[in-house]
Amino acid sequence: MAAEDYRPSRRQVLAGLAAGVMTGCPSAFAAGDREALRAIAAARGILFGSTIAAAQIRADDDFLDLVRRECAALVTENELKWGNICDAPGEYDFAGADAIVDFASANGLAMRGHTLLWYYRTPRWFRELPNAAAAERAMLDHIAAVAGRYRGRMRIWDVVNEPIEPAHGRADGLRGAIFADKIGPHYLDLAFHAARDADPTARLLLNEYGVEYDSVADDAKRRVILRHLERLKREGVPVEILGIQGHLEIGAKPFSARKLRDFIATVAAMGIEIAVTELDVVDAAAPGDIARRDQIVADEYRRFLEVMLDEPATRTVFTWGLSDRHSWIVRHESGENTWRTDGTVSRPLPFDAALAPKPAWASLAERLAGASRRF
Ligand code: G3I
Repeated sequence: MAAEDYRPSRRQVLAGLAAGVMTGCPSAFAAGDREALRAIAAARGILFGSTIAAAQIRADDDFLDLVRRECAALVTENELKWGNICDAPGEYDFAGADAIVDFASANGLAMRGHTLLWYYRTPRWFRELPNAAAAERAMLDHIAAVAGRYRGRMRIWDVVNEPIEPAHGRADGLRGAIFADKIGPHYLDLAFHAARDADPTARLLLNEYGVEYDSVADDAKRRVILRHLERLKREGVPVEILGIQGHLEIGAKPFSARKLRDFIATVAAMGIEIAVTELDVVDAAAPGDIARRDQIVADEYRRFLEVMLDEPATRTVFTWGLSDRHSWIVRHESGENTWRTDGTVSRPLPFDAALAPKPAWASLAERLAGASRRF
């Protein structure tokens, strides 16, 4: 019976969670009696997934077993970033992405493509193009080539990642980076229309971060995102989902449930769906003691997800990694300010490096179980 067919009742799931809490360890759900996150989510019409890398498919079988059990969808962490796969115009290395998409197909998992455009991973040759016309042509050719290659195989495409940055001072609040600078602000419209033309079956997502907390910068970013979404919708640009990355961080900023709730309710009122796209928690500021740190991380997951999943328009949740064994934070690919300085290893994800569920898993399972049915 596929996970989606399994409809654990809320009572069953919460009883299982209570048993885990009673034993003081969510691993009481270990082995067969733990509800899979994908099943808890699917029973409420929510898609749950996580990142995967081609290297993990090649060499980490027990991790793949956990992925198959817990995830209904996968997202390419790095294998579809333009700067990673295209050293010259029209010359792509799709081996990593093909391995992931084929693995997903072979295991009945949905795919999310991340990401067609991201200022941070853009090929050097693109940056050196002579003018706006050449850059626009290259951008459109790229979207047609990549989204066209996987036509019909991507449930969701992250079309543009992180286009907004009010702190850069542009009047339009866009990030002052390669695409806006080289092509102009209309690149957003062009990109979404091109993605729609290349793959009419995929849901198209605009992905952002820096809206999760209560800060002057988060306030500004939420305001500018709303302004752009309103215009894009008004002008018929096919932005169907707003992705909120959800890279949370212990102790970094205050949290306002009201501001986050109002923001996503406003987006939902425009008829745009919400997705949590890169959920994890930086625990650098949390104590070294693992039991205490895991609980603090679990509480951060719970507080954020309580708001996000209370909004019925939130229909997709991806963590950015499933286990601490494979996390960009643990690999120190994140900023140095996110690294722990006491010699202990970060613990940002729902499962530990030994693939055992942590209190963060219980928070995720509990919030998914508590969500209203989306169908
Ligand atoms: O593959 C090479 C490896 O051969 C080499 O030995 C190693 C050390 O130099 O580097 C490896 O490449 C790294 C790559 O991840 C694969 O692990 C790059 O240095 C590293 O910069 C890259 O970091 C990725 C980062 O985006 C930048 O592309 C992270 O894995 C990835 O999790 C992170 O994801 C982004 C999202 O795409 C967008 N939202 C923010 C999020 C976090 O920055």
